[in-house]
Amino acid sequence: VPSHSSKSAGQPVPYDSAEAKSEWSSTAQVSYLQDGIALTSLLHRCQRVAYLPRLLESCPADLASFIHPGPALVVLTPTVSKLYGARIASRFRDLSGSASSVYLELNCTEQSKDMSQAAKVCEAAVAMNLRRGGQIIGIGGGVCLDIVGLAASIYRRGVRHIKIPTTLIGLIDAGIGVKNGVNCLNKKSALGSFYPPEVTLIDRSFLQTLAPQHIRDGLAEALKMAVIRDAELFELIEASADAFTSERLQDQVGEVVIRRAISGMLAELSQNLYELDSGYCRAVDFGHTFSPHIEAATGYQTSHGRAVAIDMALSTVIAALLGHVSWSLCDRIVRLIDALGLPTAVLSPVDAVGLLASLDSVVAHRNGALNLVVPAGLGRVTFVQRAEISLGRIQYAKEYLETRHG
Ligand SMILES: NC(=O)c1ccc[n+]([C@@H]2O[C@H](COP(=O)([O-])OP(=O)(O)OC[C@H]3O[C@@H](n4cnc5c(N)ncnc54)[C@H](O)[C@@H]3O)[C@@H](O)[C@H]2O)c1
Repeated sequence: VPSHSSKSAGQPVPYDSAEAKSEWSSTAQVSYLQDGIALTSLLHRCQRVAYLPRLLESCPADLASFIHPGPALVVLTPTVSKLYGARIASRFRDLSGSASSVYLELNCTEQSKDMSQAAKVCEAAVAMNLRRGGQIIGIGGGVCLDIVGLAASIYRRGVRHIKIPTTLIGLIDAGIGVKNGVNCLNKKSALGSFYPPEVTLIDRSFLQTLAPQHIRDGLAEALKMAVIRDAELFELIEASADAFTSERLQDQVGEVVIRRAISGMLAELSQNLYELDSGYCRAVDFGHTFSPHIEAATGYQTSHGRAVAIDMALSTVIAALLGHVSWSLCDRIVRLIDALGLPTAVLSPVDAVGLLASLDSVVAHRNGALNLVVPAGLGRVTFVQRAEISLGRIQYAKEYLETRHG
């Protein structure tokens, strides 16, 4: 199995910001064939991730350059509304002039993250008769952004969409990609769409009010980026592990961690944004093979970040078992997961049999190959296939981690 290092991929190239702002377009090339006609689509979509510190405080012009002055449906969660609602409403009022915004408070939890939530957003858009050029703005954590993104992709077959993440997972992961998903029949993210936001506005000052456990959830995704492609980021996280929950990433280290995690994520995604054909072999899936089962099997009582942490620990022990990393590097990675206050042990009701059985669904999702992402060094990964994952290996990894936990 080839080892994969994508450090050099997706390097930012200088880009004219006027070009970056250009409208989306969708022409197609028409070819006349002997037995019919083929349309080759030329889809141009520019998605921006903009750092806008203190976006609720700065002068209206900053925000105006990212948000259209037209009507908007603004979706936010009760928590975000309570903490930031007044300031959000006043900033958007400054922006929209006479165009009115409608605010929808949506109770966004993992347990209720399903199509009916996306439908509620669509119904609010229908009720206000949001026009085609209107926009749906999601302000919240990953759950809210996933629901709102999906709704934006289906309302009138797709309207402008803006993401304003307010959690660490939102800032470095859920808010910046092109995927939106909801759960269905107890299957994590079984339904969704690939639909980029026009812009994601990054303001880490939202993290000042985030509970420590949700900071830790986000650190799991930052650590994922470090292990798969950024050894320096790993060392930085290792050196600062104690301070993240107290500082809430408001210091210099926090800024570097967020920026490196974001640029690493975008560089990885840029290799195959829409996961077409060969897109099932992705380094960013580290921590995302066993975790959907762990989340669903615990009735979504295990948060996404914690499930990713457990999956990363399991996958790292499997990497050591298969000889892809030394046991000392394996221990270093697992120790850091611990140090970040994240779990590593697989606890009841999740068991080795269930974990193994869950791989069938992953194989189907990845079009026939498991592609379990495991570390192959610090900042490098390799992909392990189904034939190499036996019940015995999962059981061993599980017991190894339980013993450490004990
Ligand atoms: N689409 C993607 O590419 C993608 C990527 C990663 C994760 N996700 C999804 O993201 C979800 C996890 O996201 P999450 O960790 O943000 O969870 P979350 O959205 O449930 O938010 C966590 C908690 O933080 C609260 N909160 C939000 N902002 C706050 C703030 N500024 N201050 C105080 N409290 C605040 C929320 O009310 C919630 O209780 C999962 O559903 C996961 O599947 C999606």
